Amino acid sequence: MEFPARRLRRLRRTPVIRDLVAETSLDVNDLVAPLFVAEGIDAPRPIAALPGHGQHTLDSLRLEVRRLVALGVRSVLLFGLPEAKDAEGSSAWDPDGIVQIALRDLRDEHGDGLCVMADLCLDEYTEHGHCGILLDDGTVDNDATLERYARIAVVQADAGADVVAPSGMMDGQVAAIRAALEDNGHHDTIVLAYAAKYATALYGPFREAVNVSIAHGDRRAYQQDLRNRTEAVTEVLADIAEGADIVMVKPALSCLDVIADVAAVADVPVAAYHVSGEYAMVKAAAERGWLDGTAVGLEHLTAIRRAGADFVVTYFAAEAAEALGG
Ligand code: PBG
Repeated sequence: MEFPARRLRRLRRTPVIRDLVAETSLDVNDLVAPLFVAEGIDAPRPIAALPGHGQHTLDSLRLEVRRLVALGVRSVLLFGLPEAKDAEGSSAWDPDGIVQIALRDLRDEHGDGLCVMADLCLDEYTEHGHCGILLDDGTVDNDATLERYARIAVVQADAGADVVAPSGMMDGQVAAIRAALEDNGHHDTIVLAYAAKYATALYGPFREAVNVSIAHGDRRAYQQDLRNRTEAVTEVLADIAEGADIVMVKPALSCLDVIADVAAVADVPVAAYHVSGEYAMVKAAAERGWLDGTAVGLEHLTAIRRAGADFVVTYFAAEAAEALGG
């Protein structure tokens, strides 16, 4: 007897059946909320291009983290905005720098109930806005920068960071940071490497969020060229060999192919950063009533998970957690 052709719509008939056969899940545990904490302000300041987000004071940061935890978002990624910048970005490794104070506060309040990550870079702290120390010709000095990253890693770990997340794309940054952590007894501090990070205009709203403008040039001499796919795997394997515990791809939606490649080769968890511009585009369209922002946000996050990311850093964290029933 001849069988009728398989009817693809059978498995889509009811919500229960669809949930039963779904390949991808999106859970509040898969979300990390990026947060900004500023020195020298006495009230939080909204960030126009990131609706719902602001530059926090230490107090408003504590409140926001409590709100996130209540929603089930138990991982946060901190960025610091110092009051004064200099050529080297020295407040980044000041034990009493703004991020270090915030880390201690959150650690004291939440203990191991919260996973606190610290972005590890210099661009928020340097007056020229580059992610490292500059040579006289204006290019970034890779190895001099590594020495500063190592110092930042140690003060962040001392202050209670569970995770340090180097985002500057210097060669050898994971090895330098891992060695500094080991030398200082921080054997349990996790290194989440921004391993495949592309130069993109999608970081625009973030620059407003952290008060960074790049004095000369751009980041194309250290961040990856969006036209390239193969080198992402090379970057990731190098970071894993240097001791990265987690690798991250950034941005997310314009790099879904890269996320899939990385997930196929990495023997460590893979993260993706749904960046400021990806969030801002959805929010701007939603404000005009052109689309349902929450629904599109959830679709973005689901697609990023489907591509192979284990978790996602996203400005949608709170909104998604609410929509997921948090
Ligand atoms: C660098 C850093 C950037 C972002 C995270 N870490 C900016 C850059 O590389 O220019 C961007 C994040 C976002 O756009 O949401 N410290």
